[in-house]
Amino acid sequence: MKLIDALLGEHGAFHSLLDSIEQMASTSGDIAQIDTATAVLATEVNTHAALEEELLFPALESHPKTKKLLAEMVAEHEEIQSGLERIENARDISEAVEEIQKTMATARRHFHREETVLYVLAQEVLSDETQTQLGEAWAAARTVKIR
Ligand SMILES: [Fe+2]
Ligand SMILES: [Fe+2]
Repeated sequence: MKLIDALLGEHGAFHSLLDSIEQMASTSGDIAQIDTATAVLATEVNTHAALEEELLFPALESHPKTKKLLAEMVAEHEEIQSGLERIENARDISEAVEEIQKTMATARRHFHREETVLYVLAQEVLSDETQTQLGEAWAAARTVKIR
């Protein structure tokens, strides 16, 4: 499997988690349920971001078009991570709901930029062989058997 296909698959799972957390925030108001779902999302998203920073970004660093974009992506990872922490640390439901609205919007915007700009660029500039090698490194880190 190529790295970008793996990362896109992870985004797919995140989009539905984002939707369900927003749904919980707007309907149930159950802070324990929101905390549990947010903790799951945070673990997965933080690992995903770390793997992007370890595997994908170094492979793109030497490309002239990517320097500013990569710095922005790293800054957005930090913004998402601290937003998710603020949701988990919220003192009451209204604070949690406010943070959820902000952080889910930031996360969606980030995933969209990767899907439409960064990943597209990566598929253009990285050879098929490199993309497959990075995919194998991703699978090893995720301990997924792909064959
Ligand atoms: Fe990312
Ligand atoms: Fe991503």
